[in-house]
Amino acid sequence: MEHAADSRRDPATGHRQSPVSFARRGVRLSERQQAAWDDLAEAFVVDVPRDGASTSVALDAHLDLVATFGRSAPLVVEIGTGRGDALCTAAAESPDVDFLGLEVWTPGVAQALMMIRRLGLANVRMAVVNAPEAFATWLPEHGVAEVRTWFPDPWPKLRHHKRRLVSVPFTRLVARALEPDGTWRLATDWADYAEQMERVIAESDAVDGGRCERFAGRPVTKFEAKGIDAGREIHDLRAVPVRA
Ligand SMILES: C[S@@+](CC[C@H](N)C(=O)[O-])C[C@H]1O[C@@H](n2cnc3c(N)ncnc32)[C@H](O)[C@@H]1O
Repeated sequence: MEHAADSRRDPATGHRQSPVSFARRGVRLSERQQAAWDDLAEAFVVDVPRDGASTSVALDAHLDLVATFGRSAPLVVEIGTGRGDALCTAAAESPDVDFLGLEVWTPGVAQALMMIRRLGLANVRMAVVNAPEAFATWLPEHGVAEVRTWFPDPWPKLRHHKRRLVSVPFTRLVARALEPDGTWRLATDWADYAEQMERVIAESDAVDGGRCERFAGRPVTKFEAKGIDAGREIHDLRAVPVRA
């Protein structure tokens, strides 16, 4: 389970040294999605300096939050926003908080842009980026009030477990970005991934926590509804950074 979730590159080949937690799904945008992208990306999709791959982050790049949101406010970062339902619903409920969605699936980002427009949101930005790389160096150290990981790709086959996002090295990246009294919230509909999350949090020297009640601020997403329809139970977890 201890894999290098920070996804840095092999200096010889330039390839990522650890498996990424996603398989590139379609990157083609529908006509409506392309139109939304053309209208809205400049304002709402953060320009990320790359280090090769289109979802990578240049090592020397650092996100300027005030320039990005045009103000200084508490920041929630959601990893793997899918179509942006949970992110935009939460942002509409908390206009005094800024929300940054990290997603590698560009059609999903385009859908989120449509929702940002439909709800008239000023406090949401999206970034097309591999989350571990964003957490390793790009997000400001101790600058994030809350990290949310709702229904990460389950990778159910044993031989694919190494691709799962939540690992001990990843907890260190999350702790690096969280404010000292910040919170990491997680949910999954896969019982054995919930067990893995619980084990990872217990083993980690960077975060403390475990299972918890359903977070009231988490709307039911399409993935959650699918899990429930398939008869799966939903598991919520919560972790905080270990105090130095
Ligand atoms: C199972 S879907 C859940 C989407 C959404 N959270 C929901 O509940 O509907 C997981 C999402 O995480 C994204 N994802 C997976 N690995 C990622 C990574 N390393 N960085 C950013 N996004 C990632 C996938 O593209 C996918 O859209």
